[in-house]
Amino acid sequence: MASAKTDGVTVVDHPLVQHKLTLMREEHRSTQGFRRLLNEIGMLLCYEVTRDLPLEQIEIETPISKMMAPKIAGKKLVFAPILRAGVGFLDGMLELVPSARVAHIGLYRDPDTLVAVEYYFKAPHDIADRLVIVIDPMLATGNSATAAVERLKERGAKDIRFVCLLAAPEGIAHMRGEHPDVPIWTVAIDEKLNDHGYIVPGLGDAGDRMYGTK
Ligand code: URA
Repeated sequence: MASAKTDGVTVVDHPLVQHKLTLMREEHRSTQGFRRLLNEIGMLLCYEVTRDLPLEQIEIETPISKMMAPKIAGKKLVFAPILRAGVGFLDGMLELVPSARVAHIGLYRDPDTLVAVEYYFKAPHDIADRLVIVIDPMLATGNSATAAVERLKERGAKDIRFVCLLAAPEGIAHMRGEHPDVPIWTVAIDEKLNDHGYIVPGLGDAGDRMYGTK
């Protein structure tokens, strides 16, 4: 998959992913269509974020002969969706890595201050030994993303990656400033945030659009 990488940020520019994002941005895309596309992009981003996982050679037997063949080695994965929109990526990712564990992180944005408030956190006990992939479609102010990563680190996570669909320059700067050890994968970097903390041009409220709550 093609991608462009600068300073810890990988923009996944594969045509399929870019095309699907454009469909999602369209104002009149149905709830069902939006959710399906988010799920599909989740799967494609999972492919990209796991691209460098180390392999080991193991001996297997095919119906014809023995051979040495590659198998993923080392750390197991945890997908950590930030509730609620992050859940939109989850099924697609679990399709590709069915053995992964899931950490749920409940954070909402206070509409006035835009500060992230935690209301739920549940993670596997062995999170320190796993690669944790935090998922949230929209990296806007970066308040939720930085708070989620902070909570995960407090619970022992050491190897963390962040995957989103759309990022604002402000959110990237915030994340890179607070957690420079956490690389970011996104499909696009948009122009800016508006006064309400929405990404411009963006796609609106991802949670509302995927669940039809507006
Ligand atoms: N969250 C969203 O769902 N959309 C934005 O534009 C910003 C944050």
